[in-house]
Amino acid sequence: MGKVIAIASQKGGVGKTTTTVNIAASLATLRQRTLVIDLDEQNAVGFGLGLSRQQMESGIYDVFLGRKKLRDIIHSTPLPTLKVIPYGKGTLTDEFERFVRQKGSAPLLRKYVDAVRKSCDFVLIDCPPGMGDLTIYALSACDSVLVPMQPEPLSLKTLTQILKIIRKVRRNVNPDLIMEGLLLTMYDENYRISREVAKQVWATFPEEVVFRNVIPRCEEFSSAFAIGRPIIMQDPNAEVAQAYLRLTQEIIKKAKMEAGKAEAASADTA
Ligand SMILES: Nc1ncnc2c1ncn2[C@@H]1O[C@H](COP(=O)(O)OP(=O)(O)OP(=O)(O)O)[C@@H](O)[C@H]1O
Ligand SMILES: [Mg+2]
Repeated sequence: MGKVIAIASQKGGVGKTTTTVNIAASLATLRQRTLVIDLDEQNAVGFGLGLSRQQMESGIYDVFLGRKKLRDIIHSTPLPTLKVIPYGKGTLTDEFERFVRQKGSAPLLRKYVDAVRKSCDFVLIDCPPGMGDLTIYALSACDSVLVPMQPEPLSLKTLTQILKIIRKVRRNVNPDLIMEGLLLTMYDENYRISREVAKQVWATFPEEVVFRNVIPRCEEFSSAFAIGRPIIMQDPNAEVAQAYLRLTQEIIKKAKMEAGKAEAASADTA
């Protein structure tokens, strides 16, 4: 049974999609069966992982509306163990919002996630910016949440807000939800502010909540994204590719530890 990780943040443009695409590609490179679900109407994950425009015409949006079956919108990628469910071409129209409210998309998304996680080691959900309905559904359906943040003073404030929301989701719908980790992205050691915010984050939050690995700022990202090849495939030796690989190894290690603990607990109760 695969682990489901939502990549979410209140703030836009902090590297959620870049992180999703690059962790996904790194997981697949490490032979983990991985599926990415794009929950953002910008439909960017498919671009980043090289899907064709035609493959991105429909996606999870159409499954929510009952126009497509889940199995019809799962696409392969150049990496054999990596699959993608694009968002599709819909936008959050009144019709969609009404539908979501009536049918209760949170349990629906949970049902889809539970259906696909059986055949995966990891499912990653790329959330839209902000804490709207879709992000809350993702938080309700996942096992853990990874929060990317840029090392800027304002980020600390947003962080407090997202942590509050996570606690609320945990209290109300998903008691097992855990923090996968805060991830510092676009980190630039040459900037004093980057170093200071990182120091403050490490001092404020417990070790198990903040990834030790940081993702450096790297100008090649935009070009890798434009040609639909994650940096780990484009330039595996690049510093940033190696940073994502180390982060991914941390994630795999954590998942294995959790699985071991769960097994031991179920043996105890048997
Ligand atoms: N480590 C990095 N170094 C340099 N640029 C980066 C890095 N990570 C992401 N970017 C760039 O920052 C921009 C925003 O990244 P991305 O789209 O991943 O953020 P996002 O949080 O998903 O945005 P949104 O909230 O709009 O969904 C993109 O142009 C991306 O190429
Ligand atoms: Mg995004």
